[in-house]
Amino acid sequence: MKRIVVYTSKTGFTAKYAGWIAERLGCEAKALKDVDISSLEAYDQVIYGGWIMASTVTGYDKIKPLGLKNLIIFGVGMTMNSDSAAGTVAEHNGVSADRFFYFEGGYNPKKAGLFGRMIIKMIVGSIRKKEEKTPEDMHMIETASGADRTNKAAIEPLIKFAINS
Ligand SMILES: Cc1cc2nc3c(=O)[nH]c(=O)nc-3n(C[C@H](O)[C@H](O)[C@H](O)COP(=O)(O)O)c2cc1C
Repeated sequence: MKRIVVYTSKTGFTAKYAGWIAERLGCEAKALKDVDISSLEAYDQVIYGGWIMASTVTGYDKIKPLGLKNLIIFGVGMTMNSDSAAGTVAEHNGVSADRFFYFEGGYNPKKAGLFGRMIIKMIVGSIRKKEEKTPEDMHMIETASGADRTNKAAIEPLIKFAINS
């Protein structure tokens, strides 16, 4: 089967997952900016991954119009991993939940840019003010000081799905 992994990554976490997935599936991983989008129609399966910004999987808007039949999508964010985190992002992006996988990346303030750091600071500021914090809130506060939460084993459900699709 002719497969490709395509990704958009600002600070490197999504690129890391893309590399791991491509390695497991024995195919190439390419940054979206280096891909001629129309060339993707020639593949039997495209796996697209983007970092998550305000619940949006970045770059997916470029892939979606192609209407690829065997498209698998993954999103990488700093929210604590859970079924509901994945479901919320899938819904927000109009992606069918069984073709969407959420992975925890982390947060690298040094590479996030001034705007990114401002947004995260604001979000964390409002979480800190909450009287009763959930485990997800605590996780966000800890990650926001800078953390790499990538986990190679997390890709296995996607690998299984890709092989069977
Ligand atoms: C402006 C901004 C908005 C973000 N919004 C979300 C979000 O809605 N959900 C989430 O889980 N992570 C969010 N994040 C965290 C990033 O998705 C996370 O750091 C991700 O691992 C970055 O991936 P990358 O290293 O491939 O760029 C946001 C980060 C920034 C800077």
